[in-house]
Amino acid sequence: GEAKHPRSGGFSFEGPFGTFDQAQLQRGYKVYREVCAACHGMDLMSFRNLGQPGGPFYDSHFKGGPADNPYVRVLAAEVQVADIDSETGEPIMRPATPADRFPNPYANATAAAGANGGAAPPDLSVMAKARHDGANYIYSLLSGYVPAPEGLQIAPGQYYNPYMAGDLSPFWTGDPDHVPSGGFIAMPNPLADGQVTYDDGSPQTVDQYSKDVAAFIAWASDPHATERKRTGMGVLAFLFIFAGLTYASYRRIWKGIA
Ligand code: HEM
Repeated sequence: GEAKHPRSGGFSFEGPFGTFDQAQLQRGYKVYREVCAACHGMDLMSFRNLGQPGGPFYDSHFKGGPADNPYVRVLAAEVQVADIDSETGEPIMRPATPADRFPNPYANATAAAGANGGAAPPDLSVMAKARHDGANYIYSLLSGYVPAPEGLQIAPGQYYNPYMAGDLSPFWTGDPDHVPSGGFIAMPNPLADGQVTYDDGSPQTVDQYSKDVAAFIAWASDPHATERKRTGMGVLAFLFIFAGLTYASYRRIWKGIA
């Protein structure tokens, strides 16, 4: 069978008036950092992006911009990045600054594939754009792990997920008319209830973690979505008013004529 159609994450940012939920983006960053970052890079992200307007830790009080945002400084400093010691020329690890990019967990693609049974964990920077219905897909995939159906032959290092694309018929020993939906994925179920601590009272469940990290990836994939929608709505409002003015002046100009 086909992969299952993604379930809806009920995201605040869907639709023409949708906006990102900042608290959700903050939780999603925490899930990425504590869980996903062990295997997945986000090469297009720098720490300062977390504090840019519309970002998870944006705060209009810090006039100096995202690099002056103390949350961003603290979050960056929690992560070690590779560098070269300017005096000795030796490779060192040091705490990140807002200017640093998110570090990649592996030295290179070969190391990434080697550590994961041949399938390198893809970069998550634009993953919400790389897959159809990205945010709902990521949410569904992460919260959708179920035990493999009886009769499915799974190779070592592979896991069953009903939302993963694939064709399981060659591995299915059951009724050929009822091949299970989904496919194999080289990512073991990464989330468990209670794994990440939230300090805003949100449920510490796989379902919530999956939604939150999917929202964070959706924001990273398209950080200006909210701005763009707001501009679009402004343009529409302008056109609406302009149409009214045009019509009123048309009436005036032609008043009493013909
Ligand atoms: C693949 C997300 C944690 C290893 C993927 C994919 C996504 C994803 C969206 C692409 C699936 C597709 O191709 O459609 C996440 C998120 C995580 C997470 C959001 C944290 C909540 C991890 C961890 C590991 C890992 C901790 C390593 C232990 C992999 C691997 C693949 C993968 C090896 C490639 C799978 C394949 O192509 O078969 N992940 N992941 N992931 N992930 Fe993760």
